[in-house]
Amino acid sequence: MRKLLFTLISTLSVLSNAQDRLPIIFDTDFAMPPQDDSLALMLALQSPELEIFGITTVAGNDSVERATSDVLRMLEIANQVDIPVYVGADMPLVHEVSDFAINNYGKWYSNESPPIPPGGFAMKQEEDDSAVSFIVQAVMENPGEVTIVALGPLTNIAQAIRAKPEFATNVKQLVIMGGAIASLPDGAGNITPNAEFNFWVDPEAARVTLRSGIPIELSPLNVSRKSALTKDWYEKMVAEDNALTALLVETLGERFEQSPEQTWYMYDQIAVAGLIDPTLVTTKSLYVDVNIDHGISYGVSVGGKNVWPGAEGAAQMNVQYDLDWTRFIEMFIERIQRPLPAR
Ligand code: RIB
Ligand code: CA
Repeated sequence: MRKLLFTLISTLSVLSNAQDRLPIIFDTDFAMPPQDDSLALMLALQSPELEIFGITTVAGNDSVERATSDVLRMLEIANQVDIPVYVGADMPLVHEVSDFAINNYGKWYSNESPPIPPGGFAMKQEEDDSAVSFIVQAVMENPGEVTIVALGPLTNIAQAIRAKPEFATNVKQLVIMGGAIASLPDGAGNITPNAEFNFWVDPEAARVTLRSGIPIELSPLNVSRKSALTKDWYEKMVAEDNALTALLVETLGERFEQSPEQTWYMYDQIAVAGLIDPTLVTTKSLYVDVNIDHGISYGVSVGGKNVWPGAEGAAQMNVQYDLDWTRFIEMFIERIQRPLPAR
């Protein structure tokens, strides 16, 4: 607890010293590239508009142990070891592992030891306090100041909302990569026919979070599908040499060698980019809710212009549905290629 208080006091002084940097908490089901969370973190780390208060990890793409181990190492590679990392939920609130989960994408249920990240396990350690404790205290100590960027299942965020009744009203904004909106173009799911991965892994947490009253900007699959990372863009990205582009060559290069014609979506990176430059994305105000019935639509998000029967508690939020792809990828490449802070 003393360590957390110290971090919060440092955080407060960061707030007063850096008026025009947006303080964020980066909540992530992290894994090293080619995973999108790591490219999203590179963008946030390299963008002076953002000040990362702390990183909180959650089970999703892989176990929370892997998310933590990989993000600690990434901070070393990026020379940003002063950013604290807090370990979050190792399982969704309710969702239990099934054969479907095991046979499809994601290892949120895994208890395997994390693999050795590039360059070896980090010397940097995670903090003693939990992710939820950090999130709640950082927000309550800085009312109306902190933006949360949530790029994995919303388990930590839902637990923070439940932990403190005043929490939700004190968050400045919550940017979420999650969901797929069928009433907008490109709104199919990517893990079940209509459910997006992050919401499907923890539908109950997504529902609690969307209904919390926190001002939300949702970055669903609709906008992700406006992106198209090709080999040409990748080659431009790694044309300058620094520790980040070297990591991309090591971890992403093979993908483009093996499938030079393939294009890849960018997900979490768009959620971060929209904070840096909101003109990159186009949004629409919709009511969005999440299905938590354990049937064929478990984890499906639904968005509509007005509230519909069954969605009476749904909240209105900004939903991203279009992207200026060329400006986005040019900005992404320019940021990744910037010199890293000195050690
Ligand atoms: O559906 C896309 C989301 O799930 C992203 O957050 C990505 O990291 C993935 O695994
Ligand atoms: Ca993610």
